[in-house]
Amino acid sequence: MTTAAKLELPDNPFLQGAFAPIRHEYAFDSLPLTGEVPDCLSGSFYRNGPNVQFTPRGDYHLFAGDGMTHAFHIQNGSVAYRNQWIQTAKFKLEAEKGRALIDPMNPFNCEEGYLEFLLNDKEGLANTACVWHAGKLLILEEGHRPFQVDPITLDSIGSHDYQGKLNTAMTAHPKLDPVNGELVFFAYMATGPFEADVAVHKVNKEGVLTESYIIPTPYSAMVHDFVVTENYILFPIFPLTGSMDRAMQGQPPFAWEPEKGASIGILPRVGGSAENIQWVECDPFFVFHFMNGYDRDGKIFVDSCQFDHAPLFPTADGKETEDTEAVLNRWTIDMSLSSPTFSTSQIDENRSEFPVVDPRYATREYRHGYYASPDADEGPMYNCIGHIDHVTGKTKKYAFGDRRTTFTSEPIFVPRAEDAVEGDGYLLSVVTDLPSERSALHILDAKNIDAGPVATAQLEHRIPVGFHGNWRQNNG
Ligand SMILES: [Fe+2]
Repeated sequence: MTTAAKLELPDNPFLQGAFAPIRHEYAFDSLPLTGEVPDCLSGSFYRNGPNVQFTPRGDYHLFAGDGMTHAFHIQNGSVAYRNQWIQTAKFKLEAEKGRALIDPMNPFNCEEGYLEFLLNDKEGLANTACVWHAGKLLILEEGHRPFQVDPITLDSIGSHDYQGKLNTAMTAHPKLDPVNGELVFFAYMATGPFEADVAVHKVNKEGVLTESYIIPTPYSAMVHDFVVTENYILFPIFPLTGSMDRAMQGQPPFAWEPEKGASIGILPRVGGSAENIQWVECDPFFVFHFMNGYDRDGKIFVDSCQFDHAPLFPTADGKETEDTEAVLNRWTIDMSLSSPTFSTSQIDENRSEFPVVDPRYATREYRHGYYASPDADEGPMYNCIGHIDHVTGKTKKYAFGDRRTTFTSEPIFVPRAEDAVEGDGYLLSVVTDLPSERSALHILDAKNIDAGPVATAQLEHRIPVGFHGNWRQNNG
């Protein structure tokens, strides 16, 4: 077990309580279990999130912590666990100096002499998500290249640039096509800090980067997630803007500017370019995460957890925005007309975030979606897992505990078998009980979530609230 020194942390909600960083790297061969881990689960469940190494410089933003990855290795009904900080260039540089030098959210708040490092760094924080593709586990953070780690030990291997072909960042939300194994991804501000453009990339199932191109956007925007269907790629440009001028004047580098409007760029999946992108305007709402998207008969359908405005970011004059919670909406975009038309409607009463699907149905028409959700008004995060059946419109929820003290992570769906019907499988989620400072891996039957976990693997420590997870099938 590796242990780092205790930190004096400022009074910031994202450094306290369930968000507080942990100081240890653990390795356990076999976690204590309740219930029975289904025999069909054979692989690794990963979680990734921010976990600062040192007391941060200035105001801390939730997106600014050093990445730590947690792995639950599941086989023959047993669960092993380990966690590791990702050894990025920033992490190693600060470890050597023994203090924080870089402010990842504000280049002008770095320690003197380190602005150049930040502007040229290709590895970033590795703190947001991960993807298993073409035999590599890649840790993702949208402002930088992916970072490869060993899928079992989590030992850092290094920045991955697809044999020198990837010259931009990679989103934390690449889309893996279950039919052809292609990984489609993008990078915003692709040609430089605060530039108004996105890059599109495709990697084939062998892990070879086959296509890259740049699309100009209406303004410089932070774009967290996007949509890929069988025949289209969609970029939402919501007015969470980036501005070097603001940053240089000590104002928020990233801010909510609804007066700039919003639009969605639509590209053909094959043969897309800056010349044939079509734009459709929409109201300036905000989406961090899309559940799924698909196209059928000339229409594109997109399901997302939609906010009234971007949470966690101020307006351009530095004022904090009101708290807001997302609900599931379905967009319908009609591509059969000379210019596309857009409409959106709410399809679920539950507040929801971190939406996921059965990965065998990603980018295709689908029936079942899952998310994290609250069951009460009071509390900072989500204490439930929810399920929506898009055919019946029915929803189910399971609460792991009181919202004020229970923190549920994004659920990850694992099919019972490759040929099982859609939705026949398990949901894996890390749940933290704050009073006991302990987290556990819970496994739910996705068809019957309201029955509660079929198995739980208990940790003696807490996994800080993080962002995203993923699954690597053994021999997959
Ligand atoms: Fe995300």
